[in-house]
Amino acid sequence: MEGDMMLQYQPYLDELTKNATETYALMNPHTKEEIVRVPECSQGQMLKAVNLASDAFETVRSMPAHERSDILNRASDIIADQKQMVAETIAQEAGKPIKYALGEVDRTVQTLKFASVEARKLEGESIPMDAAPNGAGRDAYTIYEPIGVIGAITPFNFPLNLVVHKVGPAIASGNTMIVKPAEKTPLSAILLREALVEAGLPSDAYQVIPGDGKNLGEVLLNSDDVKKITFTGSPRVGRDIKSQAGLKKVTLELGNNSALYVDKSMHDRLDDVVSKTVNGAFSYNGQVCISTQRVYVHDDIFDSFLDQFVQETEKLTFGDPLDNNTDLSNLIDEQSQEGLMEWINEAKQLGANIVTGGQKQEQGIEPTVLTDVPADAKISKEEAFGPVVIINRVQSSDEALHAINDSQYGLSAGLFSNDMKQAIDMSHRINVGQVLVNDVPTLRFDHMPYGGRKQSGYGYEGVKYAIHEMVNRKMISLNYTF
Ligand code: SIN
Repeated sequence: MEGDMMLQYQPYLDELTKNATETYALMNPHTKEEIVRVPECSQGQMLKAVNLASDAFETVRSMPAHERSDILNRASDIIADQKQMVAETIAQEAGKPIKYALGEVDRTVQTLKFASVEARKLEGESIPMDAAPNGAGRDAYTIYEPIGVIGAITPFNFPLNLVVHKVGPAIASGNTMIVKPAEKTPLSAILLREALVEAGLPSDAYQVIPGDGKNLGEVLLNSDDVKKITFTGSPRVGRDIKSQAGLKKVTLELGNNSALYVDKSMHDRLDDVVSKTVNGAFSYNGQVCISTQRVYVHDDIFDSFLDQFVQETEKLTFGDPLDNNTDLSNLIDEQSQEGLMEWINEAKQLGANIVTGGQKQEQGIEPTVLTDVPADAKISKEEAFGPVVIINRVQSSDEALHAINDSQYGLSAGLFSNDMKQAIDMSHRINVGQVLVNDVPTLRFDHMPYGGRKQSGYGYEGVKYAIHEMVNRKMISLNYTF
């Protein structure tokens, strides 16, 4: 691993390790070699972090908005300056092909910029008190106040940008934050901490505490000083968190089995649609909550779409995530690969057709295209989180609409159509948090509202929207007739 990178995170790791009785090996999913040993922090360390973050809250909440904004802006510039090194860290700890890791760093730079802008814009409203019969003679307005220490539990798949989606809004609104990063990918969160501290953030205002999720999460959930939990991960854990959170605020970004409809009106744009869809299905090995998993294609264009899709899929190459030409590599761990292979095999037994892929190789699972998958096969109804896409034939947009909505999830969906009336009608009737017309469901811009329904979650991210879930509204009324 590159020297500079070691230097960046090692002091913080050393500090944590000093107080930890155990450490664990962080493995590169591609080389299967140890990158570094990481402290397995204890509940006591987490408790200490909560106390420090509580103390730091007094400082951060009283910082003027422009100062918090400047810190976020500077941190964005620092990350931008270190782009290659940060991307290589992501590539090595998460096994993310470098072209996607570089994209994640670009997005992080933007997310911090958005947070910097929003820090200056947290506006309340004026309330016309005289709208109530006895309210005349008063002026009233609302302000937003930070809530305190926020606990964040973050996933491995975007180990930097999905941390920034929590830390950026927290700092922008004057809160402090403790991140319990995914066990397999804590380094990016630590690099972010280095950047924020260098940019001027008090060092206890954002702490990273690696270790066992359940153990450490319990401390966050049980502490009265932690006012909110924000979590990205599985519906199972999300449900547990919500049931234990009591009166804490909670934001849950859970999974999806994202669907896409391709209408027959796209017959002369198939090249573009296929290229976007292949990218939506296989970028970062499909380990994206909004990865394109179920594609419904109109019968009139189904055969051409499938042919072209398979041709494009077969061009994807496996390799070292650090290689610029690599499209695909191993999933985050062996257990995930085995689980996915079981689902592919189950679908096969239930009658599905593997059009291409379907095997596990030394360097990962082949990009896999399935057809004729029964709707109740796990690979269809659960979140696959791997390089698998199901392509289905439908006779009409209504049939596609029905199939898209036949899901326990509701985060994102896409549709390609030249028929605007159809696109608008479908957009209103698809039961998800975001519908992308003429894009794949895998698209996300970091300032847009991002939140799911059904098993996909609770509450919203997207910088401005996340901020509103991290503040308390206060109403102040001034009676000038008294
Ligand atoms: C996710 O996988 O949860 C987020 C996807 C994204 O930010 O692009």
